[in-house]
Amino acid sequence: MELIFKKKILLGVTGGIAAYKSAELIRLLIKAGAEVRVVMTPAAREFVQPLTYQALSGHKVYTDVFDAEAESAMDHIELARWADLMIVAPASANFIAKLLDGYADNLLLTLCLASKQAVAIAPAMNQQMYLNQATQDNIHRLKSRGVKIWGPAQGEQACGDVGPGRMLEPEALLGLIEGRFSPGKLSGKKVLITAGPTHEAIDPVRYIGNRSTGRMGYALAREAFDAGAEVTLVSGPVSLDSPAGVDRISVTSALEMHDAVLSQVSGADLFIACAAVADYRVTVVAPQKIKKSAKNIQLELTPNPDILSAVTRLENKPFTLGFAAETEKLEQNAADKLKRKNLDMIAANQVGGGQTGFESDTNELLVLWPGGKQMLSLNHKNEIAKQLIDLLADHYNALE
Ligand code: PMT
Repeated sequence: MELIFKKKILLGVTGGIAAYKSAELIRLLIKAGAEVRVVMTPAAREFVQPLTYQALSGHKVYTDVFDAEAESAMDHIELARWADLMIVAPASANFIAKLLDGYADNLLLTLCLASKQAVAIAPAMNQQMYLNQATQDNIHRLKSRGVKIWGPAQGEQACGDVGPGRMLEPEALLGLIEGRFSPGKLSGKKVLITAGPTHEAIDPVRYIGNRSTGRMGYALAREAFDAGAEVTLVSGPVSLDSPAGVDRISVTSALEMHDAVLSQVSGADLFIACAAVADYRVTVVAPQKIKKSAKNIQLELTPNPDILSAVTRLENKPFTLGFAAETEKLEQNAADKLKRKNLDMIAANQVGGGQTGFESDTNELLVLWPGGKQMLSLNHKNEIAKQLIDLLADHYNALE
């Protein structure tokens, strides 16, 4: 209960029958000592009168971007800054779609855009609307940006359908809100992470690349941030949104990634090398597009610096987790890299097709450290990242 004492909670309510449950959520938050301000969308007002929330929260309910009276008390940018946590409950399918696309056509969406911190949403809608591919895709993309998706629950719905789409009960939401304020295992630690591929130029239009999408590394960045760390992500070229709250430095080549990592590493407590760095670059990049001809051509390749080894050679090296992408002898090759690169831990994945490694949404990792190992069995990369950050934090904290 003490976790949210005096915490400032901004509760957004969108149009849905579950809006009646938001009243109970406000009551529970107030009882736990939180300060609550409520923002309603126009559709929400079709379900519950603002006066209900005003009576429970003890504050005027915000409903309109152009409300001069409300703006004179606290304008919408101030309101976004005021909040320690923003939660939207219930979050309708329409709100979720607009949030993804960055709309600001009502006060609640404007506040979400103006908020620096992660927003949590509790979806509530008809089960068919929830299962619709458009909603599923929208939720998936919001999640990858760092928006917390709480629920929905399964069960009987107001419309008579049965399935997923019920808003989580207020008690469950209170527990999740409290969880956001409990200190994470990496609280106050600085974590530097590499992710994605590198591109090594051949000429102005071609490059040597690899199949890394960045999904594994980005999921690790999100989880490290959620565990309370200050996270810097050095990312190769990928088409992923930056996770909320994470500092991203974009690079293209292995040399650029090397320089970015070495400029950021001092002060880092932990380093995670998840990027698939090209081992070689083209010795001489052609200044003009290489013309097609019937003859064979040869590219001379020069070895790139090993970023991971450069970090572990530092005098004040951070606690370091490397990755091993292997097509054969997974454990043997990973154990060799753990030793050769002077790592504290290594996470090995089987690559070259199937449900693990490059490109897939899932992964399986064999994690090794001097004197021990643990298997993180096949799961979504988000879940694998959560388990790996947990394991890493336990090992790091055991040394402290
Ligand atoms: O991005 P995804 O599509 O989600 O795929 C995830 C992944 C398969 C890329 C990821 O899980 C992974 O295995 N990353 C490491 C890929 C790799 O390059 O492995 P490696 O065994 O070749 O390299 C060993 C370690 O040395 C890695 O930590 C790598 O980041 C590091 N390295 C390698 C070469 C180099 N020049 N500098 C390095 O720092």
